Amino acid sequence: MIRKVKGTRDILPPETRLWSAVEGIALEVLGGFGYAEIRLPILEPTELFVRTVGEGTDIVSKEMYTFADRKGRSLTLRPEGTAGVARCFIENGLGQRPQPLRLCYLGPMFRYEKMQRGRYRQFAQIGIEILGAAAPAADVEVVLALHTFLSELGFDDLRIKLNNLGDPEDRERFIALLKGELGPSRDELCDDCRRRWTENPLRILDCKVPRCRELVAATTPVSEVASDPARAHVDAVEAALAELAIPVERAPRLVRGLDYYLRTVFEVVSPELGDDTVICGGGRYDRLIADLGGAPVPGVGFAIGEDRLVEVLPASFAGPRLERRAVALLPVGAAAVAPAAGLARDLVRSGVAVETEVTGRSLKAGLKWAAKIDAVVAVILGERELGDGVAVVRDLGRGEQSAVPLDRVVAKVVELLAGGGDR
Ligand code: HAM
Repeated sequence: MIRKVKGTRDILPPETRLWSAVEGIALEVLGGFGYAEIRLPILEPTELFVRTVGEGTDIVSKEMYTFADRKGRSLTLRPEGTAGVARCFIENGLGQRPQPLRLCYLGPMFRYEKMQRGRYRQFAQIGIEILGAAAPAADVEVVLALHTFLSELGFDDLRIKLNNLGDPEDRERFIALLKGELGPSRDELCDDCRRRWTENPLRILDCKVPRCRELVAATTPVSEVASDPARAHVDAVEAALAELAIPVERAPRLVRGLDYYLRTVFEVVSPELGDDTVICGGGRYDRLIADLGGAPVPGVGFAIGEDRLVEVLPASFAGPRLERRAVALLPVGAAAVAPAAGLARDLVRSGVAVETEVTGRSLKAGLKWAAKIDAVVAVILGERELGDGVAVVRDLGRGEQSAVPLDRVVAKVVELLAGGGDR
């Protein structure tokens, strides 16, 4: 037997209905805030991620699916969406469009990570980016759009953590301070952190090794080193969110696993998955497009891990979406096949979901099958009924049935479904 690649998932019906519903609401709510869908390649040049996400990050140093194509070019399955958006912005001259530009995307991302609950090697993200807006109002809108979307799904127990990373200029000072404070315990850091010490010291802050965490907890938080303009920026974001009654916690040591962020960064966590399995991450990245060779276009955005989101969806959302209200169409005998197919078409056109028996089951076996697929109503088309110009419409919940003229079957089914067909 051939098995799926480790870290990938088969998402089966009916769970796929949850995914579609979540994506539909995402496009509606985020679209409502002006974020238009963009579809970008999954394959990008490796260099794109090296230059944006950063060489010293875990993502680039050990998690990318990178390979040489047949011409020897180094390609990577995208580990995240922001870098591709920045590349696309420059390549398509999107700076010519009215600014700011609001974009939204959904789709698979790839990271070679250690498998565990909520952590996969192929996972899906739902993200937005607003490009060309440097003011705190843009950060506020991004968090507001996120909060509105999550509330629309019925969440009321998620926490939003926010921090100020300061500007890149502040970072040098912060790193010097951090190294000064950690210096005496440098030997106690894990192997990875000793490597990070020279390559990318900021990454020591999100090491998960307990001893590294303890040592980091005693250092000065990054937010305290932020310059006055960076402080004013993030304070303004926080004040506006407070005015909107969006609960946001300050997390002075929160840093993110990607190098392009500055000033505002935030994460969303759930009680169910815990603080280490973050549902959404985002922040501001004002230097990213310039670093890729474009104009100095500021940006801010977030990406939600859809796998994680679906895993913790409130029951009030998930329950109703998983309910089936199908109609089973049961043709009995060869002569009933075409009329049943025609009726299926009429029902579908009226917005009713049908499943037609197409394997030649007897009526008795057909009714058993209808129960198995959780159909609410069965429509039986036997040769005798067809001769009489009727079909038998059976309410499978109540066990009641009646013969209905063929031209009234759709209306009758719709009526039964509207009446609850409760079982
Ligand atoms: P990120 O924090 O690397 O940020 O990823 C965003 C979200 O993707 C995470 O919070 C998590 O929910 C989900 N995720 C990441 N890795 C995995 C995995 N292995 N399995 C399942 N879910 C995962 C970014 O990707 C940034 N591009 C976000 C952003 C957009 N910042 C500004 N704009």
